[in-house]
Amino acid sequence: MTDAAQTANDVPPADAIAPDHDLFSKFDPLIAEREALLATGVRDPFAIVMDKVESPTQAIIQGRRTILLGTYNYMGMTFDPDVIAAGKRALDEFGAGTTGSRVLNGTYQGHRECEDALKEFYGTEHAMVFSTGYQANLGMISTLAGKGEYIILDADSHASIYDGCWLGNAEIVRFRHNSVEDLDKRLGRLPVGPGKLVVLEGVYSMLGDIAPLKEMVAVAKKHGCMVLVDEAHGMGFFGEHGRGVFEEAGVAADVDFVVGTFSKSVGTVGGFCVSNHPKFEVLRLVCRPYVFTASLPPSVVATAAASIRKLMDAGDKREHLWKNSRRLHQGLRDLGFTLGTPTAQSAIIAVMLPDQNVTVRMWQALLELGLYVNMARPPATPAGTYLLRCSLCAEHSDEQVGEILDIFAKAGHAVGCIPASA
Ligand SMILES: Cc1ncc(COP(=O)(O)O)c(C=O)c1O
Repeated sequence: MTDAAQTANDVPPADAIAPDHDLFSKFDPLIAEREALLATGVRDPFAIVMDKVESPTQAIIQGRRTILLGTYNYMGMTFDPDVIAAGKRALDEFGAGTTGSRVLNGTYQGHRECEDALKEFYGTEHAMVFSTGYQANLGMISTLAGKGEYIILDADSHASIYDGCWLGNAEIVRFRHNSVEDLDKRLGRLPVGPGKLVVLEGVYSMLGDIAPLKEMVAVAKKHGCMVLVDEAHGMGFFGEHGRGVFEEAGVAADVDFVVGTFSKSVGTVGGFCVSNHPKFEVLRLVCRPYVFTASLPPSVVATAAASIRKLMDAGDKREHLWKNSRRLHQGLRDLGFTLGTPTAQSAIIAVMLPDQNVTVRMWQALLELGLYVNMARPPATPAGTYLLRCSLCAEHSDEQVGEILDIFAKAGHAVGCIPASA
């Protein structure tokens, strides 16, 4: 018997572990809930496999041609020929990966070129590329606010913002979602001396609602705070240059840090922070999620840079995306669905449903008719909120938007969640 086999034989079988010592016991309620749901015959909404992806808006799922309406691929850059060519060139010239941290062997000229593209896109002095948007929030938030300082965040913030708070040592203060009044009240209760970071998102991705950034940034500045805005879902199509909701709100001069991701409008993977703070570059030495992880592969930063440069001149795409979003919002409302926002505030349209059962049945009915959307439930959504999240793409054709509405009508009638007359 080999040493490895001996070791494997020494591990007790799972059923020999006393339940009170099994670290997995805490997941039993979740396992039971999932098993009960799948026993009803529905497909697992969190185990979809794309067998083939044909375009930013179309894939083959279980042998069926399916329209994609849940990808965050807002600007449809994943199949842009110039973006793909840039990635292939970098793969040939620089290899498959860097095998190193940005501060050791992992900064190639492509990483610098990507940061230059971001600086140009945002008109800032500094840009720092992280391996994901998740890590950008983790790194920026945990590093900027330290012991004895404060982070003030919206209660509905993305998980990466919460995790950034938990990774650091600052005091955490939450305010009611999108409430300028509550932000003001809570800031007013804090001591004047310590540093404070207010963290906001341009677009909140569950309901697709946008933050009242003009008012919120003014309140944050009145109380002497620094401001970080996550534009994960705003980059590409808000504001004159597509920088995000903060640009459209006219508050660029008062926003200290903008965090973003390459996994949505940019169409690849990666994260970033841009800023004009004169001491920004020191973060490359002290920000742990930047230092202690491998950098993005050369092909990825090359695709990101090519995509960002093209997004600087994407007025037609932006216009088409907004047209699609408004048409889908209006069409779903006319069918009788309850939506997350009264009008289309972003390219995310959330269809609100009463409970998990109806939501999964509706999700499956849409999929069987050839439409993929995201299903979202707590803890990703606020407590008790079940929804189907639709995100539009600038590459959805007018015909596809029409087809999407027809599919929603058929599925809604089949499941019984819209009036029969609609
Ligand atoms: C608001 C927000 N911030 C950050 C992220 C993380 O981005 P990434 O996918 O690059 O990790 C997401 C991703 O869903 C997000 O929605």
